[in-house]
Amino acid sequence: MKTIVKQTIKLGSRSYPICLGNRIINHLAEVASAESIPKNIAIITDQHVAPLHLKRVVDILRRHDFRIAEILIAPGERQKSIPTATKIITKLVKSNIERESTLFALGGGVVGDVTGFVAATYRRGVQLVQLPTTLLAMVESSIGGKTAVNHPLAKNAIGAFYQPKFVFSDVQFLQTLPSREVICGLGEVLKYAILDKNIFNFLYEHLNEILQLDLDVTQELILLCNTYKAKLIETDEFEKDTKGGRTVLNLGHTIGHALENLSKYKLHHGEAVLIGLKWELEIAGKAQIIDQNYFENISSLLERVAYHPKLNFLNYETLIRQIFKNGKKARFILPQTFGKVFITDKLKPSLIKAVIKRQLGK
Ligand code: GLY
Repeated sequence: MKTIVKQTIKLGSRSYPICLGNRIINHLAEVASAESIPKNIAIITDQHVAPLHLKRVVDILRRHDFRIAEILIAPGERQKSIPTATKIITKLVKSNIERESTLFALGGGVVGDVTGFVAATYRRGVQLVQLPTTLLAMVESSIGGKTAVNHPLAKNAIGAFYQPKFVFSDVQFLQTLPSREVICGLGEVLKYAILDKNIFNFLYEHLNEILQLDLDVTQELILLCNTYKAKLIETDEFEKDTKGGRTVLNLGHTIGHALENLSKYKLHHGEAVLIGLKWELEIAGKAQIIDQNYFENISSLLERVAYHPKLNFLNYETLIRQIFKNGKKARFILPQTFGKVFITDKLKPSLIKAVIKRQLGK
């Protein structure tokens, strides 16, 4: 048997394991049975992931007598929407998926978020299992119970905290990951590296292996990120701690979300976060709130990733309006040193504008 590394997110009655390993998918049904998942399930996935992994997952579960409804959605952030959630629910009703059934989210962040949202609301809540297939989903979105769909006016505006019964991450799924998705995953991984010295050191040493998706090294990295995130979730499950806690995971996201929105989701979430991390690092430097040595180390890691997308769709004024939400204050989570962030909505707008101008080459 391939080794499954099990880590538990400790949340009292909502505790659950993250099962991580390489080539562990054959053990999915055993884990599901051990976690008391009823035999009636629906697998929700997208049209990119289905041809790669769906048949294998279905075969394994059917061999263990699971009855499975298969539900496919289109790929992409636009599917994180009420219309897509409604389409999924229509199929669940037609497939006689009842309250004691379980939804399996097989895919990346979008599939995980929209399936999680449906699980939290369908028949007032059915069980959820996360089967992430992307680096971003394995390190970030499949863990911690954030589920949501977007509103036309705001990302993740409609959602719930809803923890899965278990998360099952087989890094073998990453073998088919497009290079663009590797960068997306790295966006979130870099966030963890900025927050945590261990993750920084590991990533600095192994960046090339990660970029080439060496599966053993990538698994070690995912484990480090999961361990870090587990602690935050266990102490601040519902993101109530405005001075730290889970909020620190929004590092890079003030600018990241603005860029993602303005690109009309042509920039993927992880790509936008990666740019957000770079720009917000520069803001932290200009605001003189960051340790200089740390600043140089992080800058050098970000440079090595060498992600330089064309941002010519961006209009400076529109971006500023988006960041300041039409005249309101912008809240930033800025890095100070490992383990320490500065959360503020009191930065001088002129400082932020100067950094953005420079980044846009204005
Ligand atoms: N993605 C940030 C969080 O899970 O809190």
